[in-house]
Amino acid sequence: MSLRHSILIIGCGSIGERHLRCFQKTGRCLVTACDSNAALRQRTADTYNVPTTDAAGTANGSFDAVVICTPAPLHVPQAIGALNAGSHVLIEKPLSHSLAGLPELFAARDRASRHVAVAYVYHVFPFLTAARDFIRSGEFGSILHATVTSGQPFHLLRPAYAQTYYRDRAAGGGGIQDALTHIANWIEHVIGPTESLLCDCAHLALPSVEVEDTVHISARHGGVMVNYTLNQFQHPNETTIQFNTTRGSVKIEFHHQRWGTFAAGATDWTWHTTPVAERDTHFINQANSFLDQIEGNPAQLCSLEAAAQTLRFNLAALAAAESGSRVHLSELPGRM
Ligand SMILES: NC(=O)c1ccc[n+]([C@@H]2O[C@H](COP(=O)([O-])OP(=O)(O)OC[C@H]3O[C@@H](n4cnc5c(N)ncnc54)[C@H](O)[C@@H]3O)[C@@H](O)[C@H]2O)c1
Repeated sequence: MSLRHSILIIGCGSIGERHLRCFQKTGRCLVTACDSNAALRQRTADTYNVPTTDAAGTANGSFDAVVICTPAPLHVPQAIGALNAGSHVLIEKPLSHSLAGLPELFAARDRASRHVAVAYVYHVFPFLTAARDFIRSGEFGSILHATVTSGQPFHLLRPAYAQTYYRDRAAGGGGIQDALTHIANWIEHVIGPTESLLCDCAHLALPSVEVEDTVHISARHGGVMVNYTLNQFQHPNETTIQFNTTRGSVKIEFHHQRWGTFAAGATDWTWHTTPVAERDTHFINQANSFLDQIEGNPAQLCSLEAAAQTLRFNLAALAAAESGSRVHLSELPGRM
């Protein structure tokens, strides 16, 4: 395999370092690291033996693709800069913290004729893809109802959370934009866009921040009703999604990396397990999918359109929590 793609990673913090390492591990590209923090640039160069550049070097057109791993308010302007310089773009989630600049981003993509994907990494989780394909097969008919129950000890998983963008909604922080968005994006991928939602959320437990760490959302996707609950302080790191139809149910347990079916009339679940050795494996798979896409193969990752829809979900949830009433996503200001 030749190292034929030149890739620039912008932002080498927590997730940027992982992307850098995982793009390297594909064996298909030469990676350059960019961060505005000089000490971090040096540490990244020393650890991964990569060339580095500062923020000024990001849009000079010498990279086939740019991976944007900065906080959410920088995603759209940096993506537009990269597209205008002729690069393909992979953008970390969420797409942004507001709808500002989205029409310009779509226009820049179409003008440049380059690929844009958004790194909602669940799109490459094998047990999710298998469950999605089963649902799409139609064996159980149409989904009527789904429940999502998710919780994890964020303070143990990301001890520095209070010093990052997470502490500030305006920077893309809080449980809705940072954590729940992954699940909402994947649910929309399976059953279609959210049309309206109610949301209650609060800060209950995480020290040193005031943003919401607990979220309840009741959403409607056309005729399908979805209930989400999330907290970011419980000790078991567990996420369960269940889809219900009149012919059966499909359950996904992230913590066991398995999915199961319970057909009408069955007495127990039938489980399918697809374990993945370590977290980097998902990110290597995501990097390979992105490289496949820019080589002209079918896209597996979240599209710009789907990520813009999930951004509206995030903003609707924040607005619904603020107002205490149902928010229709089509009525958000600045709708595209
Ligand atoms: N997919 C996932 O599982 C996952 C996990 C964590 C974070 N994220 C997302 O990734 C993004 C970054 O999160 P993080 O946790 O890595 O944040 P972080 O704070 O650890 O890292 C961000 C980095 O961007 C750098 N930076 C800021 N402005 C810059 C600029 N103008 N030019 C170059 N570098 C700049 C900072 O110096 C910092 O090193 C967020 O959108 C977050 O939601 C995704």
